[in-house]
Amino acid sequence: MKFFVDTADIAAIRELVDLGMVDGVTTNPSLIMKSGRDIKEVTKEICDLVPGPVSAETVALDAEGMIAEGRELAKIAPNITIKVPLTWAGLKACKVLTEEGRMVNVTLCFSANQALLAAKAGATFISPFIGRLDDLNIDGMDLIADIRQIYDNYEFKTQILAASIRTANHMSEAAKIGADVATAPPSVIKAMASHALTDKGLDQFLKDWAETGQKIL
Ligand code: G3P
Repeated sequence: MKFFVDTADIAAIRELVDLGMVDGVTTNPSLIMKSGRDIKEVTKEICDLVPGPVSAETVALDAEGMIAEGRELAKIAPNITIKVPLTWAGLKACKVLTEEGRMVNVTLCFSANQALLAAKAGATFISPFIGRLDDLNIDGMDLIADIRQIYDNYEFKTQILAASIRTANHMSEAAKIGADVATAPPSVIKAMASHALTDKGLDQFLKDWAETGQKIL
């Protein structure tokens, strides 16, 4: 499973890039707002840091507007993925932009039917939002499994990009189901390394080591 980082925080992206953990980046208007940066400037910096796909989201509501904004965002760098919402207008924009040879990420997906339409429209990525379904007591991971099954049934090439990931468990569950990509905030990717038994075991090893009075260096 590829790891995308869901942030526009340059320092956080750089730290994960140095560890080889970043296959791409996703942003959205909320993350750009949080960064306090100009969308084009910060997105360019991200594209320079990360060779993989970097999603930048359109904000128009009509297809023509999304297409125009998408073409403008695509000028930032060759690895830009244009993000459009899963509306009828977004599907139209997806079709046009993919036919122009651009990568398109169709976002705000909350149902298998929406994912089916995005694949028919030629989306490069579909972004089902796990956490926001969980918030409504609907198991977001079931949606990932449903989309996996549907895409496999018909050999759709659209990649499943599990989004709205809130916990380390979401990452491993998405990987078990076979999501192609998961995008997560840096804090979640770091949390994947934590285990209480690792901390406990390390503590005991260090206590025992101190008893030996030895040194390695
Ligand atoms: O990738 C989409 C993501 O940014 C949404 O996450 O936590 O706001 O639902 P969240």
